[in-house]
Amino acid sequence: MPSASGREWWRSAVIYQVYPRSFADSDGDGVGDLAGITGRLPALRELGVDAVWLSPFFRSPQRDAGYDVSDYTAVDPLFGTMADFDRLVARAHELELRIIVDMVPNHTSSDHAWFREALDSPPGSPERDRYMFRDGKGRDGSRRPNNWQSVFGGSMWDRVKGVDGRPEQWYLHIFDATQPDLNWENPWVRERFKDILRFWLDRGVDGFRVDVAHGLVKQAGLPDYTPPAAGASMGGNETGEPYWGQPGVHGIWREWHAVVAEYDGDRALCAEAWVNPLAKVALWVRPGEFDQAFNFDFMFAGWTAGGLRRVIRESLEAFGAVGAPSTWVLSNHDVIRHASRLALGADSPQGDGIGPKSPGKPDPVVGLRRARAATALMLALPGGAYLYQGEELGLPEVIELPDEARQDPTWFRTHGKKYGRDGCRVPIPWESGAPAYGFSPSGRSWLPQPSEWAALARDRQAGVTGSTLELYRAALRLRRTKRLGLGAVEWLAEWSRSRAVVAFRNRGVTVVTNLGRRPVALPEGRVLLESEPIRLGRDGRRMLPTDATVWLG
Ligand code: GLC
Repeated sequence: MPSASGREWWRSAVIYQVYPRSFADSDGDGVGDLAGITGRLPALRELGVDAVWLSPFFRSPQRDAGYDVSDYTAVDPLFGTMADFDRLVARAHELELRIIVDMVPNHTSSDHAWFREALDSPPGSPERDRYMFRDGKGRDGSRRPNNWQSVFGGSMWDRVKGVDGRPEQWYLHIFDATQPDLNWENPWVRERFKDILRFWLDRGVDGFRVDVAHGLVKQAGLPDYTPPAAGASMGGNETGEPYWGQPGVHGIWREWHAVVAEYDGDRALCAEAWVNPLAKVALWVRPGEFDQAFNFDFMFAGWTAGGLRRVIRESLEAFGAVGAPSTWVLSNHDVIRHASRLALGADSPQGDGIGPKSPGKPDPVVGLRRARAATALMLALPGGAYLYQGEELGLPEVIELPDEARQDPTWFRTHGKKYGRDGCRVPIPWESGAPAYGFSPSGRSWLPQPSEWAALARDRQAGVTGSTLELYRAALRLRRTKRLGLGAVEWLAEWSRSRAVVAFRNRGVTVVTNLGRRPVALPEGRVLLESEPIRLGRDGRRMLPTDATVWLG
C-alpha cells in the first residue's frame, strides 16, 4: 500500500487518467492493454503524479469503448487477464502510485447476463425490474413511454420483442441503445453493486471514479421533458432534467461510502456528476458520500480572467462549505483536448467534438500556449487535480480523422452531425522513431495517429528545456515540495478585478496568468516556473507575455 501522501491523500492528489485503449499496447493488436500500462508506469512515477485512474477495462462488447460493461468482475480479453490487472496494481503500489478504477453503475451493456435474463422474462418479472422497462403508449403500445432524447442522439427508448416475437415493452437508455439503464430503486441492483465494489476493493484498488453519478435515479412517473437547446446534454439540472441530479441518488452514494469505509487504506470515491451550479455539485461530496467530484465548471470556464476567477472562487466556496477539497480538470476522454479547446472561438459542447468540416478550427500555436498556461495555473491551486493522458505532451485534438475511422456512438447516432469524442482518444506517442510512435510494437493503432505527433513523442520532450513535458514535471515537483495542494488562494489586490490577469498567492508562491493582449510587468520574486519565457521590457522590467503563467517565489 502506498504511504507517500498520507491520510486523505485525495485532498491534494494529482490523478492521471489512463484511457487503456490508447495508452500502451503490449501485444501488437493496435489496442492498448493492461500489460502495456504496467510497462509504462515508471514514466508516470517520473512525471510526478500520485494516482492513476483507469477508464474501463472490464468485459464489454466495446460499443461505447468499454463504458458498456457486460461483466463487472472480469477483464476484457482485449485488455488482458485478471493476472495482468493484479500485476498492474502490485507494480503501481511498488512505485507508490495509487490505482482508481472506473465503475459504471447507471447502465450495463445489453450483452450483460442481467439484461439477457430480463429479455427472456415476461413484463412484470423480477428480472425485468432490474432495468427501466415500460409499456408503450397508445392502444398497441407502439408510442414511446416519453419524449426523452439520448445524450448520444435519437430517442432514449428502444422497443423489445416478446418471446412470441411480437413488439412488446420499451426500455430506457440515456446513452446508446446497447447501454440499458438499470433500475436503482430495486434493492437487488443495489446489493449486486456492493458485491462488485468489494470485489475490486479486495483486489487492492484505492478507489473508484463513478460514471454518470448524477443519472441513476429518474423522476417518478418519467414525465416528458424538452431540453431548452436541441438534444440532451450530459448534465445541467438548472432546467430540471428529470433524469439528472434527482435527490434520490444521494442515498445510493451513502451506501457506497459505507462499503468503501469497510476497508483500510483511505480509499476514495470520485463522482462524475455533470450538474450545475457548483453548489449542487457540492451535494455529491457531503460527508458520507463522495470524497471528490469533477469540477466541469472549471473545465469550461473558458479563457477569460473574470471567468476563471469566478469559477475558482465559487469552487473553493462551494466545496469548502461542505468540508471537501475542490478538484480541477481541463481534459478527459469525453471532451475536446484543452490544447485545442482553449483556442476555439465559440463554446463547443462536450461530446460534440470537432472534425474536418467543423467551422472555426482552433489555432494550434495559440491553443498550446493557452493550454500550458492553464495547466500551470491549475496545478498551483489547492485541492485535487486530474490530468488526462497525453496532455503532458501538449497533444491537440485530432481533427482530421477520416470518417471511416470514427467509432464514437455519437457519430453513428447523429448520422455524422456530431463528430463525437474520437479526436481526444487517439493513441499517444512515446518514442518518435518507433512503430506507432512507441504505442504498439506492430505499428497498429485503433485510431490513426497524425504524423505531426512524432515531434510530440515523450522521448523528444524529455530533458528538453521548455518542452510541455518538462513544464508538467517541474510544476508537479514544485506543487509537491511546496504542498500547494493543501494551501489556500489569496487573490492579489492589484489584479483582483483585472480583465487581463489572474493572480493569486498560495503558500508563498505568487501565480500570475496573463490572458490579455499585452505583456504584463511582473511583481517581485524569483521565477520558479514559466509556461513561456519571461522577457525583459525596455525599462528592464520582467514581462509576462500573452497567454502565459509564471510562478514566483
Ligand atoms: C461517461 C463517460 C463516457 C461514457 C458515458 C456513458 O460520461 O465518461 O465516456 O460514454 O458516461 O457511460
